[in-house]
Amino acid sequence: MGMKIYRNAPLKAFNTFGIAAKARRLVVIEDCDDLDLSPLLGNNPWFIIGAGSDVVFTHDYDGFVLTLAPEARVTMGDSGRVTAWAGMKMDDLVQWALDHDLYGLENLSAIPGTVGAAVVQNVGAYGAEAKDTVVEVETFDLRTSTYHRYTGDECRFGYRTSRFKEQHDGSEIIVNVTFALRDTFVPNLSYKALEGLPHTTAQALRDSITALRWQKLPKPEEHGSAGSFFKNPVVDEATCLRLKADHPDMPEAHKVNDQNYKLSAGWLIDKAGWKGKTMGRVGVWPQNALVLYNLGGCTGDEVVALADAIVADVQNKFSITLEPEAIII
Ligand code: EPU
Repeated sequence: MGMKIYRNAPLKAFNTFGIAAKARRLVVIEDCDDLDLSPLLGNNPWFIIGAGSDVVFTHDYDGFVLTLAPEARVTMGDSGRVTAWAGMKMDDLVQWALDHDLYGLENLSAIPGTVGAAVVQNVGAYGAEAKDTVVEVETFDLRTSTYHRYTGDECRFGYRTSRFKEQHDGSEIIVNVTFALRDTFVPNLSYKALEGLPHTTAQALRDSITALRWQKLPKPEEHGSAGSFFKNPVVDEATCLRLKADHPDMPEAHKVNDQNYKLSAGWLIDKAGWKGKTMGRVGVWPQNALVLYNLGGCTGDEVVALADAIVADVQNKFSITLEPEAIII
């Protein structure tokens, strides 16, 4: 228990794009009890990574990359409360919950990455977001070696963001996440694409959501990617109405609050003509324009070059500014 340190460590297995960058040190934390990292870290820069499903390395990292051991550790509390080690794969937790007759995570099936990253990003898919079930997050401060607990409200969850994403260069690492799950299965079919899917059991719904997701994403063993590369842009009503008038074929925008609507970045990029296009060793996934993928051996700079070209073109054609969901290092 404790940690393992690797020098000049390849990060290819630590980012789902499969970019071949290196870190001066890779620290794999197995347990935080009695852990004192501050003498080791000194004044070096550091960066916390989960499974690397939302990070693009444009250069070697001259500092410490910290990650939690990728182990499945779950404890069951009272009344559907479940606490998972943040280094566990989120999808393994979804299956664990169903195996224990606990419900509420099934719509998040097949999301890549760790439980900790699911909180940082407030991951969401098919009508569910991490914030719907996360009730407590425990962090470990790498500078002071102290634990801190945040309630769900204190996490400041937003669309693909949280206080932990805002402070991703801060000194806290998420170590445990508590979810409040239900002991009865009520299918959440609010997302349009789920209409008509099998949902008699939570496992059936999970299996069909998994299949649906994989229709739109490259298989990781074939092509690296970061899932949706861009966030869906949130715009005011006037902008939404302008686009709808200009493009009657635009998919329905989702109302976020009284003033704002979320548009489909995938549709905008597709409409701008980028689907299936490639630039260097990076491409726009032919089945989903929101996904950039590695044709083999791409660099982070090539990813950024294609992303920049798409942002400029969408800006030019629709006057909408796309923002990456991924963190560029
Ligand atoms: N669309 C196109 N062309 C494309 C892609 C999409 O016309 O190339 C249209 C679709 O036909 C649909 C609309 O755009 O009318 C929205 O597409 P979809 O329902 O597939 O969802 P999305 O907005 O592309 C979001 C999340 C995904 C999540 C799905 C399902 C973001 C940035 N992306 O995608 O999350 O799985 O909804 O809930 O919010 C991720 O964040 O990595 C991710 C995969």
